[in-house]
Amino acid sequence: MAQIPEDVIEKIRSQVNIVDVVSQYVQLRQSGKNLFGLCPFHEERTPSFSVSEDKQIFHCFSCGRGGNVFKFIMEIENLSFPQAVKKVAELENLPIDQKYFSEGSSGSSSSQNSEQKQLIGLNEEAVSLFNHILLNTKIGEPALKYLRDRGVNDKTISQFKLGYAPNQRLLKQFFDQKKVDYQLLRKSGLFAEDQQGNLHDRFVDRVMFPIRDPNGHTVGFSGRLLGAQENMPKYLNSPETETFNKSKILFNLDFARPNIRKNEPAILFEGFMDVITAFQNGIKTGIASMGTSLTEDQVYDIKRITNQIVVCYDGDTPGQKAIKRAIDIFSPKKGFDVKIVVIPDNLDPDDFIKKRGVQKFEELLSHTQAPLEFELSFLKRNYNLDSEDEQTRYISEALKLISGVGSSLSRDLYLNRLAEEFKVDKDVLKKQIQPLISNQNEVENNLNQGSLSVLPINNVDTSKHLSLVQKAEECLLNRMLNYRDIWLKVSNISGFSFVDEQFQMLYLLAEGYFSKYQDYQIATFSNFISEASLQSLLIEIDMLDLAKDPTDEEINDYLAIIMKKAPVEQQLKEKRLQLREASKIGDEQKVQQLTIDIINLEKQKQQAHLEQA
Ligand code: CTP
Ligand code: MN
Repeated sequence: MAQIPEDVIEKIRSQVNIVDVVSQYVQLRQSGKNLFGLCPFHEERTPSFSVSEDKQIFHCFSCGRGGNVFKFIMEIENLSFPQAVKKVAELENLPIDQKYFSEGSSGSSSSQNSEQKQLIGLNEEAVSLFNHILLNTKIGEPALKYLRDRGVNDKTISQFKLGYAPNQRLLKQFFDQKKVDYQLLRKSGLFAEDQQGNLHDRFVDRVMFPIRDPNGHTVGFSGRLLGAQENMPKYLNSPETETFNKSKILFNLDFARPNIRKNEPAILFEGFMDVITAFQNGIKTGIASMGTSLTEDQVYDIKRITNQIVVCYDGDTPGQKAIKRAIDIFSPKKGFDVKIVVIPDNLDPDDFIKKRGVQKFEELLSHTQAPLEFELSFLKRNYNLDSEDEQTRYISEALKLISGVGSSLSRDLYLNRLAEEFKVDKDVLKKQIQPLISNQNEVENNLNQGSLSVLPINNVDTSKHLSLVQKAEECLLNRMLNYRDIWLKVSNISGFSFVDEQFQMLYLLAEGYFSKYQDYQIATFSNFISEASLQSLLIEIDMLDLAKDPTDEEINDYLAIIMKKAPVEQQLKEKRLQLREASKIGDEQKVQQLTIDIINLEKQKQQAHLEQA
């Protein structure tokens, strides 16, 4: 199926007035230049949702969502980008070539080829069979009793389509009667193959949990033993198949997504029984990986929906170690706001909810820890704090962790606590931490003390805890997008890149945009951005209330902050990448320039080492 070309997308967008489309969902009132209404994506009493007819974008000041007309439809109708383009065209009666949607109308599932569809079909037939056996047959009774004893109610069983795979190996017979192709059965993951190539039901005497992809299609199963059996894994998963990739799938993402979009954090659990129990108790934003630690792919999928994560793993030691890994993978530079829930008494969330009730669980959810708080208490377990010697060692490790905190205010708060906890002088701690604080932080402190004149920090929304560098990046990108001469000036500085990954991504996307369009129009640029968090960032950048005309001094200030911060290492990495590109396309001149840049950067790096020594 053909991808919708950029110019087709833009043509539709430019023929539609976002105000007409949004008005079909939200009551808007004119106020000044913009229209306002109650944000449809979360509960609110006073309108913080605005639509700009000029710019053809929407933006909510409260939840930060924003974008062009396609983003609005994607969010509100829960559609993929191509689906949203189609929907907008239909709403406005604009013609659009059906060839872009020929294989069914659901955009994201249309990337599935027909074999994948057949495999999903088999999985879904298996879902029905297992569910039927569980609910309506004698052989299913022990499994039904097992689930009820665990507190799973009938509604949950039907929502999650739980089932039972009995001893009788019915599935193979079932498909044989239907004369399903042998090769397809082999690839489905529902069967184990013996040496003669005969297929046998893989799941035997197990409660079956269908695993759905983000579109709600069942792509695999996990089967749980009814009781403990020796030498048998408690949970058995489908093997990797064309549709089931354990490291990509997030259990329950399809059900959780619309709830997360209402501006609630995604709750990350370890087990899918935790997800199911929470769901049954009204906590509907839970997701889980399949018993493996979180992967970049999964993080990416989460990021497309939210940047707010609550990690809610088991209270036992492996669970706590897994939290540490999760914190690291959601490292804050990716723009995540991560919170940790600590479950007491070695319980897992499922047990906790059952034993103590959902209200107590909600209390836990409202008393989350910041990652550093968690890391400090995690660190503490390694020390016997009755010994003064170990106290000292703990404190010095703790200071290392605290020194990594970007904001000097938060650092100070942590130092207060540490001083109080161990009855030590805060000034002593301050002295100890000083050399640990990275140069970056120091630059920031100096700048904060006002050595720069024009940076309009006051205009920047500080509630988002942006660092000074991020603020400078935000302002600079705003200027670059809106003023062609500034764009040219900055993009021609050799070695320039944004420190923050998010800003660098936007910058690269904007490069792509300007290679096609002369003038900057935010609604058109918005077509180029698929990631929700980047989309919000772009809107945020656009909303900055900067002085009317930028001065050279202003731009130079931003640059000074950013360039000082961009570690040489990172610049080198960029340059080497560019060099590879340039030699690939045989751009001799660029190769030469880049080589010189790299040599200079290498020198800088050595210099820095010498100075440190
Ligand atoms: N898991 C697995 N294989 C196992 C054990 C666990 O794949 N043999 C995965 C499952 O995805 C499970 C998750 O790891 O959901 C968490 O494991 P665990 O904490 O043992 O599961 P619980 O949710 O506590 O399971 P139960 O309450 O059914 O014992
Ligand atoms: Mn459990």
